[in-house]
Amino acid sequence: MDARAAPHLPANAEVLEPAERLSHVYPVHSRRNESGRLEIGGCDVVEVAREFGTPAYVYAEEDIRERARGFMDAFAARTDRFDVVYASKAFPCTAVHRILSEEGLSCDVASGGELYLALRGGFAPERVYMHGNNKTEGELAYALDRGVGHIVVDSFDEIERLERLTETRQKVMLRVTPGITAFTHASIQTGQVDSKFGFGMDDAPAAIERCMASDRLELCGLHAHIGSQIFDLEPYERLAELLAGMGNYPLLNLGGGLAIAYTAADDPPTIDAYVETLLRAAPDGVTVLCEPGRSLVGNAGVTVYTVGTVKDVPGVRRYVAVDGGMSDNLRPMLYGARYEAEIADRPGGDALCTVAGMHCESGDILIRDVALDDPRPGDLLVVPATGAYGHAMANNYNALRRPPVVFCAEGDARIVVRRETYEDLAVRDV
Ligand SMILES: Cc1ncc(COP(=O)(O)O)c(C=O)c1O
Repeated sequence: MDARAAPHLPANAEVLEPAERLSHVYPVHSRRNESGRLEIGGCDVVEVAREFGTPAYVYAEEDIRERARGFMDAFAARTDRFDVVYASKAFPCTAVHRILSEEGLSCDVASGGELYLALRGGFAPERVYMHGNNKTEGELAYALDRGVGHIVVDSFDEIERLERLTETRQKVMLRVTPGITAFTHASIQTGQVDSKFGFGMDDAPAAIERCMASDRLELCGLHAHIGSQIFDLEPYERLAELLAGMGNYPLLNLGGGLAIAYTAADDPPTIDAYVETLLRAAPDGVTVLCEPGRSLVGNAGVTVYTVGTVKDVPGVRRYVAVDGGMSDNLRPMLYGARYEAEIADRPGGDALCTVAGMHCESGDILIRDVALDDPRPGDLLVVPATGAYGHAMANNYNALRRPPVVFCAEGDARIVVRRETYEDLAVRDV
């Protein structure tokens, strides 16, 4: 249906054909096939749902590879001193780790569990950077035992702890909180003064001195991450200049945070423009690192749900309830993240709907006010751009079983994480 006919759309809504309007939020090479169904990685999403059930996270493997190559090529065209470090919190999954380690990336882990998955997924320990504002002794000991390349120290307590635990000279980087407030949601800002992460600008000189004086720690560089879903690249220039002014070290890690398109209106910078900005601002001779998470995997994945009930509250709204919700995508509830949606075989539409989850919370709303083509029970609803922080933040609220992860490539759909079973829900009982 033509979006122009949509009587409920806001007056300022961009009027474009649905396929064009949303093409940038779907994985690369997604298309409508001859039957009018969404195709991802060459696989018909309706068939994928039939085979693996819903809800399901469905990824186009090629999308992840293309974006990884986008980062690697953008750096390689300009310098040979760089490292692209996958922020594995975005999608901690062995199958994606395999792809990204094959593509030559390093890995950022923020817990012992993420470290375990990264190593299992094929990252060499020396290519791992370990983060965290409160790494436990157990996690540090695990990292040291496995020979993790760099530990990014976050506090004076941790410096002391690490010195005590390490028997060799451990390479470290130092996380700085630069006092730069990126324009994004407060929950995903991390560079501002009032932050639980890293050393503030007042403390950083003493922390640097402390590391330099240590015979157990080798300070290799500085790190900062100013936040996530950042559209404006200017703060990265300020960040690079600021860190460069704090001394000469071999490594300079400017964090992650490049925005992606979640909605039709989102127009993030290209990977190339982002890399260009980082390198332009960094001093010569330093190895520049960045830590993309969502910009590697976010647009690669969609979530496919089945519509169960449609409820009209006359004059108020139409609720379209699906077989998942805040247990498979917490972001809307956590910080009001906005998504698009379409029926898998009937794109577009002019019925303004609110997509609700099935959890026992009124706030369990996935999307408010999205135009759909007259949804009915049994329809498959696709929510694009759920590839990052969806599976990662999935939980078992209401004892829902966490969905499977399906990778699609060249027309082949393969399951890489199976759906949980009811037995899984009790597997830790003693
Ligand atoms: C230290 C660090 N690096 C990288 C990232 C990745 O951010 P994004 O997924 O927005 O690229 C995060 C996200 O929280 C982070 O905390």
